[in-house]
Amino acid sequence: MDRIIIRGGKRLEGKLPISGAKNAALTLLPCALLTDEPLTLRNLPRLADVDSFGHLLNQLGVSTTVEGSRPDEFGRVMTLRAASISSTVAPYDIVRKMRASILVLGPLVARGGEATVSLPGGCAIGMRPVDLHLRALEALGAELEIASGYVRATAPDGGLKGGTIRFPFVSVGATENALMAAVLAKGTTVIENAAREPEITDLAKCLIAMGAEIEGLRTDTLTVHGKERLHGATYSVMPDRIEAGSYACAAMITGGSLELTGARRETMPSIVSGLEDAGGIIEDVPGGIRVSADGAIRPLSISTAPFPAFPTDMQAQFMAMLTLAKGTSLLTETIFENRYMHVPELNRMGADIEVRGRAAIVRGVEKIHGAPVMATDLRASMSLILAGLAAEGETQVARVYHLDRGYERLEEKLQAVGADIERASDG
Ligand code: UD1
Repeated sequence: MDRIIIRGGKRLEGKLPISGAKNAALTLLPCALLTDEPLTLRNLPRLADVDSFGHLLNQLGVSTTVEGSRPDEFGRVMTLRAASISSTVAPYDIVRKMRASILVLGPLVARGGEATVSLPGGCAIGMRPVDLHLRALEALGAELEIASGYVRATAPDGGLKGGTIRFPFVSVGATENALMAAVLAKGTTVIENAAREPEITDLAKCLIAMGAEIEGLRTDTLTVHGKERLHGATYSVMPDRIEAGSYACAAMITGGSLELTGARRETMPSIVSGLEDAGGIIEDVPGGIRVSADGAIRPLSISTAPFPAFPTDMQAQFMAMLTLAKGTSLLTETIFENRYMHVPELNRMGADIEVRGRAAIVRGVEKIHGAPVMATDLRASMSLILAGLAAEGETQVARVYHLDRGYERLEEKLQAVGADIERASDG
């Protein structure tokens, strides 16, 4: 298994390209199921999760061709074509490894009237049920049957019918499944209390490019006028706001300055204001933003919540940054119940963090030191990379496969801006 080895204390400076967004890619890929014409996705990040999703789609009968795979290039272009659907089953083996597989449910039922998808079960960061996804499909007339860990959804003769979907709380994935199902349902669907994450807007824009009619983009009420069929399109995946935020923290924690090319400020308002409150300087530059540290890191009080509030996917990285703040910070995690697995690892590096229920109290320390560490999820792993960049001495981060799910060629990007970082393989 690979490890990442970092010798900390280097100030990062230079240009760092931001890849296409993982979470946008994972909802744009299943859009291919909605039409028999080709869907071409540009700026797809090269990530393990994107490959896994491609394999799942292949199993359902979608052909995929990839261009732009030169090893020195970031991103790639994939053309997907679901001329016909040969299987409507998403098996446990794939779904348990990648929860986003549940996003084939809506499009499969919308296109062919049926789908059988394994229920994902819990994961490292929490229970993560899919009840809202299922209720959304029911609101469009699907019939559900749950047996042996699988859900089978069928649309009665004539297919899904438009309806009102009222989410009791915000779910990104359930909003995505609802939207992808509604575009081919008969009549009008209203999705209330919809997630407003930029990835939802990216999905809606791709669906519109495919011929869908959707109103209310960027708001919490989406109105969809169903179409009999959608057509092919070419669409470019939005830049990854979480990757951009992570590298912004890398600039801050090393007292450096990074130009994040491709980053879009409007997709990351609370990340930008958090960085500014912590003492960072954020400037617009052509094609991106520059994030620079300006003296000591200031402590913050932050609570995670759905967009446009502070994203749960940035909590671990901000925590790493705040371990070195001048003062005490308070972080509150409101989205997932078990998202502090990085805390014991950061404490082993000399941080002073105490978890009390959903809150974490981060008392800033003068310095942290390198150590062998590991994490059980993607963003937690990134927080350890950030701590390693600032620590005295050597840090080894194990279980690199978590990072490979969500950060395209992390060590290359960081080496190019001055980090002393490498990947070691244990064979
Ligand atoms: C997506 C993101 C993930 C991010 C999360 C919150 C992808 C592939 N993943 O995950 O990176 O951390 O949004 O911004 O885009 N819930 C239910 N029932 C449901 C669905 C969700 O109770 O049917 C709960 C979840 O357990 C969680 C909360 O709702 O506590 C929000 O989850 P949700 O927004 O659905 O997250 P995902 O779409 O799984």
